Amino acid sequence: MELLEVDQAEKSYNIRKFGNSYRLMAVNDVSFSLKKGSCVGLVGESGCGKSTLGRLITGLEKPTKGQVRFLGESVYSATKRGRKLPFAGKIQMVFQDSYDAVNPRYTAEQIVEEPLRNLMHLSVKERKMKVSELLRKVGIPDSEKNKYAMEFSGGQLQRVCIARALACEPQLLVLDEPLSSLDVSVQAQILNLLGDIKDEGNLSYLLISHDLEAIYYLADSIIVMYGGQIMEQIDDISLFYEMKHPYTKMLLSSIPSYRNQEEKSETAESIWMDLGVQKEGYTGCPYYGRCPEGKEVCKQKRPEIRKIRKGQTVACHMIDD
Ligand SMILES: Nc1ncnc2c1ncn2[C@@H]1O[C@H](COP(=O)(O)OP(=O)(O)OP(=O)(O)O)[C@@H](O)[C@H]1O
Ligand SMILES: [Mg+2]
Repeated sequence: MELLEVDQAEKSYNIRKFGNSYRLMAVNDVSFSLKKGSCVGLVGESGCGKSTLGRLITGLEKPTKGQVRFLGESVYSATKRGRKLPFAGKIQMVFQDSYDAVNPRYTAEQIVEEPLRNLMHLSVKERKMKVSELLRKVGIPDSEKNKYAMEFSGGQLQRVCIARALACEPQLLVLDEPLSSLDVSVQAQILNLLGDIKDEGNLSYLLISHDLEAIYYLADSIIVMYGGQIMEQIDDISLFYEMKHPYTKMLLSSIPSYRNQEEKSETAESIWMDLGVQKEGYTGCPYYGRCPEGKEVCKQKRPEIRKIRKGQTVACHMIDD
């Protein structure tokens, strides 16, 4: 059985802008699965729906349509008193900005202890021991456990957040841009740490990132999203340089320089919002307006996602089987 199955998930929001209102399809008909012990990399530019998909998977939000199943059961089948126990703590999320994700008045120990207190039946002594063990695992020495969140550097605090996410022995971590608020040198350390933790435990990751290099380093398979939809998917990382979608090719060609391209992604986002590709009712390919290969058919009709060879699917009219 697959660990996670996302089945035709859709999430739309009502948007009101300049007196107009419309429905924005943040996630549009997304399906994929994730195997136990694997890392799926989810890549795409700002606003394409990555975090929304992450929230649907962790059950923080419900899809407008479709379903997300964890070990065969819907993640939304919550009881009145909260999440059903089999899922409690089993899917955890790590966020981009660790300073936003924690209570600044908590110490590292309190941050990691909180989920244990809520979800695990441990004695105080067992809990303290578990906290120390978790902090050691992520490279925070015992002597630092009484430091407050605000006293840590970004990289150290992200380590504490990873320890907290690991506290209740999760099976799946949804890592939402865990590196993007960190220095490049610290990014590499956190990436290594995530790789080690995954190899050690029976853990699976959904790694959300703008950073194709980071995804290449850690992921076993890749999903490329644009305008709320999956554009391309490879099940085997060895096909990385053979990805074919025009949007993926653009991402691949911008690897060396995109770290300094804050402005570029802003512009890209505004272009695409102007195009309204995420508006409910838009029926063409979301990438049409920016695609160097786009033809009339792309404007008229959304390309179906289809298999072009073993382990590779694309949604593009211009790619032959
Ligand atoms: N609660 C909400 N209400 C209205 N619109 C939303 C909401 N959450 C997300 N959106 C919109 O849905 C789209 C997808 O947003 P999302 O945050 O999932 O993108 P993202 O790929 O994570 O972007 P980034 O890389 O900047 O984090 C965006 O246009 C965003 O403005
Ligand atoms: Mg996001």
